[in-house]
Amino acid sequence: MISIPKTQFDNLALVRQGKVRDIFDTGESLLMVTTDRLSAFDVVLPDIIPDKGKVLNQISVFWFKRMEDIVKNHIITTNVNEYPEEFKPYSDALDKRSMLVQKAEPLTIECIVRGYITGSGWSSYQKEGHVCGITLPKGLKESDKLEQPLFTPSTKAEIGDHDINISFDESAKIIGLEMAEKLKNLSLDLYNKGAALALSKGIIIADTKFEFGMLDGEIILIDEILTPDSSRFWPLSEYEPGRSQNSFDKQSVRDWLTESGWDKTPPGPKLPQELIDRTSNTYKEIYKRLTGNDV
Ligand SMILES: Nc1ncnc2c1ncn2[C@@H]1O[C@H](COP(=O)(O)OP(=O)(O)OP(=O)(O)O)[C@@H](O)[C@H]1O
Ligand SMILES: [Mg+2]
Repeated sequence: MISIPKTQFDNLALVRQGKVRDIFDTGESLLMVTTDRLSAFDVVLPDIIPDKGKVLNQISVFWFKRMEDIVKNHIITTNVNEYPEEFKPYSDALDKRSMLVQKAEPLTIECIVRGYITGSGWSSYQKEGHVCGITLPKGLKESDKLEQPLFTPSTKAEIGDHDINISFDESAKIIGLEMAEKLKNLSLDLYNKGAALALSKGIIIADTKFEFGMLDGEIILIDEILTPDSSRFWPLSEYEPGRSQNSFDKQSVRDWLTESGWDKTPPGPKLPQELIDRTSNTYKEIYKRLTGNDV
């Protein structure tokens, strides 16, 4: 488990605490730490899921390496022995769940790719017949595979706000047409390669979000990539269009929370130990399936 109270890093700035990740500014670079926190229905639960952070971090590392022929990424090193001096006392806690990354200038759109119709895409298709301005054929069922993966960008919301889906033209107004086209092509290439590999391991990556940044005038991939936090992972063996699909990583927790009668406002309830263990194992199973390795 991770226990890195920020007071232990007195000399370092915790620049951002997301629902799951803590980010420290080392001056030159950023240290991204993936904790074992779990969020469900957008609420961070009081329990931690052992090794979940290691799984998510290692999944990103796995993909970043495999995508280097498509685009460079922000990783400097994942070897704790190469981290700045001030992190040395915490090497054990940081091992496998962190990466030292280059500080980039984040591009201000989120690059979402949808291979299947679900979530906000399904809602908008039902209401208006299109997703982010892209008209889709009539008669699609919930969770259907799309003929072609779609690039459906969104704005980056401030903390607490929700991202807003926008059309490609709107994204071009924000970052320029040439840049929007580049990000679209990169995003589709990344998704196609990742989704194909995952599918061959029995995992459907229904949709996902990429983030890009600029470094020395070049586009690089930042943040996390093709993890169950930034994507929808569905078990292929249970896939059935015409209904919503089970989430590979969090379904048991979601089901339990729904059953519990919790009103989905913070604080979330404590989970039974058995469910915590099962969820931890599910994350490890996803990692094993994808990479063939143990965490
Ligand atoms: N290499 C990088 N350089 C600069 N900023 C980065 C880099 N990698 C990631 N970021 C930024 O760090 C932030 C990551 O935040 P994080 O994912 O922890 O929280 P969040 O996205 O605000 O919330 P959530 O908990 O919902 O994910 C994002 O704003 C992302 O753009
Ligand atoms: Mg995030």
